[in-house]
Formats: sequence, structure tokens, C-alpha cells
Amino acid sequence: MKTNRPRRAVLYVPASNEKALAKAATLACDAVIIDLEDAVAPGAKQEARERMRAFMSEVDRSGREWIVRINQLSGEWGTEDFLAARGAMPDAILLPKVEGPVDILMAEEALEQTDAPEKLALWAMVETPRGMIELPALAAGARRPFSRLGCLVAGTNDLVKETGLKPGPGRANLMPWLLQMVLAARAGGLDVLDGVSNDFRDLDAFATECRQGAELGFDGKTLIHPAQIEVALAAFSPSVEEIAEATRIVAAFGLAENAGKGVISLDGRMVERLHLEQADKLLAKADHNPD
Ligand code: COA
Ligand code: MG
Repeated sequence: MKTNRPRRAVLYVPASNEKALAKAATLACDAVIIDLEDAVAPGAKQEARERMRAFMSEVDRSGREWIVRINQLSGEWGTEDFLAARGAMPDAILLPKVEGPVDILMAEEALEQTDAPEKLALWAMVETPRGMIELPALAAGARRPFSRLGCLVAGTNDLVKETGLKPGPGRANLMPWLLQMVLAARAGGLDVLDGVSNDFRDLDAFATECRQGAELGFDGKTLIHPAQIEVALAAFSPSVEEIAEATRIVAAFGLAENAGKGVISLDGRMVERLHLEQADKLLAKADHNPD
């Protein structure tokens, strides 16, 4: 299930943190993920669910997507989390630690059983070794008609924990896995979001990491702190130069003399119809961004 909504800056908020929840509704992020999973202590799960429910029933949802991350369906808190999230009717339910298409099918089945409307999407965290290995199957599953899967989310902290990998400077060692996620997402027709950056005070380092994520092809970045929003919005929006270049390409192919051509020369460079498609996409994305 593909939408054109921008997902450049996607902020996690622990459902147990009332103050942060209230603040999230006022921030300029594209989406908010209300977390019932790892940001909520085991003893606070019930209270967090109730807070999420109350908050979602009152908040003005316009201007951004609202997502609820639940605990694993097969685990101790999964069913109650799922029912609470389903009842709140978010734009999507984010499934943690997805290890293959079965996890998506189970959640889809649960949504069918509760007569969930088609627009209630599923997002999937890719954050375990098995989840990485099963990426091709996940992408294939996303191609099924009526699949609710809309977006993959990199869980880099869990991947590092589960594998023992040390990311290294510039996340060099994580690179192959990040690239596989982007590739799988594109193969499945899905959006894909880069993992969080834990050091929310160092915004220069964060800007570098955001630019890297954008260059790898991610649609946006998951965030943990409001200070990161502006930086992520800037990094994942097309630049003024990119917009100007795309506009030139569209204009060139619009000329009568180029109407029947598959390839043209523009400012000394070869430009093909595939570049026109790319330019159209970039301009549509720029148009869709509310800022
Ligand atoms: N969403 C919304 N508001 C947030 C926020 C978030 N994720 N993180 C912090 N804020 C708010 C604070 O409530 C505070 O609000 P105020 O100005 O009204 O007082 C303001 O932003 C400044 O916060 P600050 O004091 O700098 O941070 P903190 O010590 O309160 O919180 C964290 C730091 C890391 C605990 C917090 O940012 C957080 O919980 N982040 C999300 C963690 C998460 O969800 N992890 C799971 C996925 S990885
Ligand atoms: Mg995780």
C-alpha cells in the first residue's frame, strides 16, 4: 500500500511520556510513532496503552501521520497492544522485530478479524538477523494484492545489539545492511526509513548521518528528539538545485521539437526519458511537502 505522504522526519515518542506526547502534536515532523514497545518499561505497559488511547482520541491528527508501535504479536503484551492500537485507528501499526512474511500475514489476519478499514497500514521494523535474511520474502509479500505493508523501518540499535557489529566511523560496517533494506523496499514498492541516531545533542554529526541516509535512498529518518526534526526535513527534501534541474528536464522534454525523442542533449549531458520520470517524481515529492 503506497501513499505519497512525505516521511522525511518521523519522531518516536514513548507512550508513557505524557509531556512528550503533547509536544509531538505541535512539532513540524511528517509523522509520529507512539511507542508501546522498547521505550516503555515492562511495568508501565498497561498505563502506556491507556495513555496512547486517550491521547489518540483527543489529538488533532491533521498535518501528519500517526503510527503506533506495538510489542511483538506473539509475545506477552502483543494482543493487548494490538487491540489498543487497532481501536485508536492510527494511520499505521508498526510491527517490531519482523522476521518474515508470516509476521505480516498474522497482523493482516488480526486486522481482518477486527474489520479494520483498508487504509489502516502496517509498517515493519527490520532489526534482527533473521529479519535481514528474510528481506527478499518480505519484499515479495508486499507485492501481493491487498498487502497492507507500506513502509520498512531500520532498527539499527537492535541490529547492532543482536549481531555484535560495531558500526564504525560513518556507519561504514552497517552499510551493506542499510543498502539491502533500501533495495528490498524498492523491490516491494515500499517506503523505507533510516534508523535513529542516539546522540541527539550533536546536530552536526546528525546532519552528516541524515545526508548519508538520503544518499543511500532512504525516504526519511526515524528520530528520537525534537531537535532532530529540522535537520532531517532539510536532508530528505529535494534541494533548490535538484528542483531547478528537474524543472529544466521536464521543460526540455515538453518542447515540440523533443516530443518524439527518447534521448536529448541538455547542457552538454545526455538526458533520457528515465530521467524525465525521475524528474517528475522529484517534483511531485517536492510539491507534496507541506513546508
Ligand atoms: N517527542 C516529543 N517531545 C520530546 C521528545 C520526543 N521524542 N523527546 C524530548 N521531548 C521534549 C521534552 O519533553 C522536552 O519538552 P519541554 O520543552 O516541554 O520540556 C523537550 O523536548 C526537551 O527535551 P530534553 O530535556 O532535551 O530531553 P529529555 O531528557 O526530556 O528526553 C529522551 C530525552 C532521549 C529520553 C527522549 O528524547 C525520548 O524519550 N526520546 C524517544 C525515545 C524513544 O521513543 N525510543 C524508541 C525508539 S528508538
Ligand atoms: Mg527495536
